[in-house]
Amino acid sequence: MTPEMIAAAQAGGLSADETRRVLETLRNQQTTRHIEPSAVIGEGTRIWHFAVVLQEVRIGRDCSIGSGTEIGRGTMIGDRSRIGSQVFLPPNSIIGEDVFVGPGCTFTDDRHPKIHAPGDAPYTAEPPVIDDGAVIGAGCVILPGVHIGAGAMIGAGSVVSRDVPAGVHVRGEPARTHSLSHASAVKFLGGVATYTEGLTT
Ligand SMILES: CC(C)(COP(=O)(O)OP(=O)(O)OC[C@H]1O[C@@H](n2cnc3c(N)ncnc32)[C@H](O)[C@@H]1OP(=O)(O)O)[C@@H](O)C(=O)NCCC(=O)NCCS
Repeated sequence: MTPEMIAAAQAGGLSADETRRVLETLRNQQTTRHIEPSAVIGEGTRIWHFAVVLQEVRIGRDCSIGSGTEIGRGTMIGDRSRIGSQVFLPPNSIIGEDVFVGPGCTFTDDRHPKIHAPGDAPYTAEPPVIDDGAVIGAGCVILPGVHIGAGAMIGAGSVVSRDVPAGVHVRGEPARTHSLSHASAVKFLGGVATYTEGLTT
């Protein structure tokens, strides 16, 4: 951000808020990220290189969006969530607060993907819904329309084809409910009251 840029924004008679948005946009253009101007990014949120944030995305405060991650149009991400590198979130995904998404996760929204011929009806999108405090390990594939409950923990490399209840641990391909080792259970307890129930299923 150069002093010239700040002066230019202020000379345009912009309000403090508008000036901040303009400066943020300019800063984004100086890096290898791509953030659509209609996206709203909360204070303290960091978006790393090669990330793509599409139209009308809303990201809360103090989040982190990893390098090479694509956030689809209209997606909402709550405060303090961390989306790892190389993650794909389709349009209109809903991610709660304090959600951890490990690197390399792919969320999907088209159950029967194909090339559409001109005049074909558009596909029925089924974006994911991830509730507050969920943890999704690295390299997971989340199939269309899956709802992951609050505080659920998804083991690395899982293919999640069904909804995951709050506080439950699943893993595998397809992901199924599992007990966690005592050590991992202690690490993930983190104040989510229903977690123990899921851990012992
Ligand atoms: C699921 C997880 C929390 C470990 O759970 P745990 O119950 O403590 O598991 P343990 O390490 O005691 O392993 C128990 C068994 O489960 C298996 N296992 C562990 N994680 C697994 C996973 N993600 N998928 C399938 N099997 C798994 C282990 O191989 C082991 O099997 P074995 O007894 O036949 O050798 C952990 O493996 C995991 O996936 N963490 C997420 C890591 C990650 O993605 N981090 C992202 C930031 S880099």
